[in-house]
Amino acid sequence: MTSPPAYQPPVLEGARIRLRPYRDDDLPAFFALRADPVAMRYGSHPAWTHPDQARDRFESSRHHNAPDRQVCWAIAARDDDRLLGSVALFHINAAQRLADIGYMLETASWGRGLATEATTLALDHAFAALGLRRIEADIDPRNAGSCRLAERLGFVHEGRLRERWEIAGETCDTSLYGLLARDWKSARPG
Ligand SMILES: CC(C)(COP(=O)(O)OP(=O)(O)OC[C@H]1O[C@@H](n2cnc3c(N)ncnc32)[C@H](O)[C@@H]1OP(=O)(O)O)[C@@H](O)C(=O)NCCC(=O)NCCS
Repeated sequence: MTSPPAYQPPVLEGARIRLRPYRDDDLPAFFALRADPVAMRYGSHPAWTHPDQARDRFESSRHHNAPDRQVCWAIAARDDDRLLGSVALFHINAAQRLADIGYMLETASWGRGLATEATTLALDHAFAALGLRRIEADIDPRNAGSCRLAERLGFVHEGRLRERWEIAGETCDTSLYGLLARDWKSARPG
């Protein structure tokens, strides 16, 4: 049996979803999310094809959280606690009070405002509880849903990094977005 992690991300309640730490029984859904080629089209790796590919990332998301390293939450439905997606603050740089944000939802839950709800909770935590001052999002410019979500949250498009990544033989640009703590109060979705 694995011992419980030393630090657990807090449970944050939204209207329709909650952010909570991963549980051991989330592993199949965690894999299924990242095995969907539609959801992974603009992801940092191609869709997984075998459950073994999920183990290291799941282990890290479940057990290797710390306020000065990364905070990985499951996005779960409020009614039945089923895993719907992921949101994470990662590459946390405590000295610079800086972090990246990443998010994804199962395709069946897209277009209902759930990612807006989940990322708003994570950003509240980033600025108020962790005291961060800047959050960055690295988004493929072709990923219209993610670009729109970032803009909806008040992120500013700060530049385009050409051919930054090579994923499954395809070079991909980055649209770099940034959100400052001082802008969050006015930008925060109602
Ligand atoms: C990006 C993602 C999280 C958005 O989830 P979602 O729950 O559908 O987003 P929301 O419903 O909260 O919508 C947020 C905004 O984006 C808009 N939007 C969502 N999908 C869109 C799309 N495909 N094209 C254009 N706009 C879109 C919504 O209309 C909304 O804007 P509005 O408030 O002005 O109406 C989801 O599409 C996803 O998981 N994609 C795959 C993983 C991924 O790409 N993650 C990001 C990697 S950088």
